[in-house]
Amino acid sequence: MRTQLIPADRVKEAALLIRKGGLVVFPTETVYGLGASAFNPGACARIFSAKGRPSDNPLIVHIASEEQLAEVAQLPPQAAALAKAFWPGPLSLVLPKNPSLPEIVTAGLPTVAVRWPRDELAQAFLRECGSGVAAPSANVSGAPSPTTFEMAKGAMLGRVEGILKGADCQEGLESTIVGFVDGQAKIFRPGNVTANEIAAVLGVDVLSLAYTPPSEGRPVSPGLKYKHYKPNAEVRLFRSPAELPALTAGADKFGVLVVGSAPELPGACEVRSFADWKEFGRRLYSSFFELDQLGCTLILAQLPEAEGVGAAIANRLTKAAGVPN
Ligand code: TXA
Ligand code: MG
Repeated sequence: MRTQLIPADRVKEAALLIRKGGLVVFPTETVYGLGASAFNPGACARIFSAKGRPSDNPLIVHIASEEQLAEVAQLPPQAAALAKAFWPGPLSLVLPKNPSLPEIVTAGLPTVAVRWPRDELAQAFLRECGSGVAAPSANVSGAPSPTTFEMAKGAMLGRVEGILKGADCQEGLESTIVGFVDGQAKIFRPGNVTANEIAAVLGVDVLSLAYTPPSEGRPVSPGLKYKHYKPNAEVRLFRSPAELPALTAGADKFGVLVVGSAPELPGACEVRSFADWKEFGRRLYSSFFELDQLGCTLILAQLPEAEGVGAAIANRLTKAAGVPN
């Protein structure tokens, strides 16, 4: 399939492809999404084949207006409070779905995950699309999500009708997903909207499901059961840069991702030092991609405490490294 590479000032062309039932990769502040009209079941089915994604893993619907939201889902009071505080932004809310939304979007669940992104280009695109756009991250299933145009192209060229060219993603990690279990807000996937920020809005403690053992039967968030975020290189984790000389002794073709400075490491392909955890998270996936391209076969990544923005990074890194949690 020929894929059109669409510059940001031609957002209407990208939206037209969606309106005609096509697939378009588009930037958001979290990661690039692989979009189709949420009300076109045939187009949504093609998302699953383009990604190689199991069809029991539902999609997030992206909206950019109250009207688009109303077409997709209902907004109960707690969810409305979170929407008011964090939308537009990197938060997805799992809401009761409207009957008119095709089942394929939600993999048959009675709920739908909805997000109103903050990125200006994403909003312009979604407004032009007219109604909600179903979009998972635009990676091939299992790989890290694309956070740059180059990564998006690498993953989806030849599989979609269009790729809308945006800047590098500002957040760099997928949205926080919040759902409601027995009326209580729960974090289904940690992201840059933190548990404390959510608790402050709701006035109650909020549990994260990301670190609790899966319950019997169907996982609460189906994505939790799949392998995720893996670059080609093997990922190993460390807590303190002082561990690095021992961990890398004798290794070749290794890269390092660290906050602050690292000791001298003979033989390293590349050592990337980030100013803080926010920047580490923003550039995590693009670093995986670029270190793969440099031919690294081993990536040593620093593991933060799983608190605040560290919760999302720790969640992605433990999966990338294959650590059970
Ligand atoms: O930042 C993001 O969330 C990005 C951008 C493109 O918006 N999207 C993204 O989508 O990360 P995806 O498909 O890679 O991850 C969506 C997750 C999956 O783990 C899925 O299981 C979960 O959301 N999910 C979707 N609908 C759900 C629902 N009704 N109930 C529980 N979990 C749901
Ligand atoms: Mg994903």
